[in-house]
Amino acid sequence: MRAPDSWEIIVIVIVSPLAAELPVLMFQSKTDSKYARLLRALPLLPGVTVCAHVQWDRRSPGIGTIFSYAVPEFLNALQLRGRGEGGWVQLALIVQGHHTAYGAGFRNDGHWHHVCATWQAGGGTWAIYADGAEGSSGRGLYQGQHIPGNGSFILGQDQDSLGGSFASNEAFSGNVTGLSLWARALDTGQLAGLSVCWRPPRSLIYTWSMHTLQVEPTVRTVTLHFHCPGTTVYTLKSHCGRIVEPCSSVVRALASQARGPGRYIVQVSLLHTPLFTQQ
Ligand SMILES: *[C@@H]1O[C@H](CO)[C@@H](O)[C@H](O)[C@H]1NC(C)=O
Ligand SMILES: *[C@@H]1O[C@H](CO)[C@@H](O)[C@H](O)[C@H]1NC(C)=O
Repeated sequence: MRAPDSWEIIVIVIVSPLAAELPVLMFQSKTDSKYARLLRALPLLPGVTVCAHVQWDRRSPGIGTIFSYAVPEFLNALQLRGRGEGGWVQLALIVQGHHTAYGAGFRNDGHWHHVCATWQAGGGTWAIYADGAEGSSGRGLYQGQHIPGNGSFILGQDQDSLGGSFASNEAFSGNVTGLSLWARALDTGQLAGLSVCWRPPRSLIYTWSMHTLQVEPTVRTVTLHFHCPGTTVYTLKSHCGRIVEPCSSVVRALASQARGPGRYIVQVSLLHTPLFTQQ
């Protein structure tokens, strides 16, 4: 029997409004040596929001420090740490030495998760968000005081001295990218917007760039393609085959029709059924 001459095809195209190529830092296993340092001075912080994409190492035991910010007067000025437990990664925030309880974070599933932490002097209100949803929050954390500027901001390690004295048992293992910082606490709506890649411009004090990072040489980097949620799915039907247009060009034409300006293709899948076969 010969192969069919024509197919009815259904092309499913998933497009996203935004996508980005981001350099990713890979912290392979917990060490006392791997880190990345921000080469930007931070201002005095009456409030702060820190967000990043994190891929947690499922096999990594105990606590992992996603970032730590130390100033000469206070080593634990600001810190976000997690611990993998019972299928979840729980997260806790530290502000000027005051440690919140570990609360709901994200599934310990090896996938990428978008994590944000906010704090403000007014009321000492704080919150930790994972994938756009509030996990834990509270009040009265270092209320009424400001976090000093000009400190040492380090990814992947807890600092037991200013910019150093790392301990492997509190180090981060996994991948990190897309760190952003604001000098104020963003609200729930703005944080939900962030998870679909809308970036509030006001008070933005740091955006991810390899030029503003000092990366310890054994931390490997890789570039990955990130797409934002808020995707659209198109289901398009056509015919293709030997006696009509070749299938590859029909699929290409349908996909580019779905893409349109300012939209990126996330995935194209193809279902086909033979229409008829010439005997
Ligand atoms: C980090 O990213 C690399 C490249 O995508 C991947 O091979 C590795 O498994 C990731 N690490 C973790 C802990 O997910
Ligand atoms: C940071 O240091 C510079 C230079 O010493 C100083 O002018 C500035 O006021 C400091 N900023 C903060 C927020 O401490």
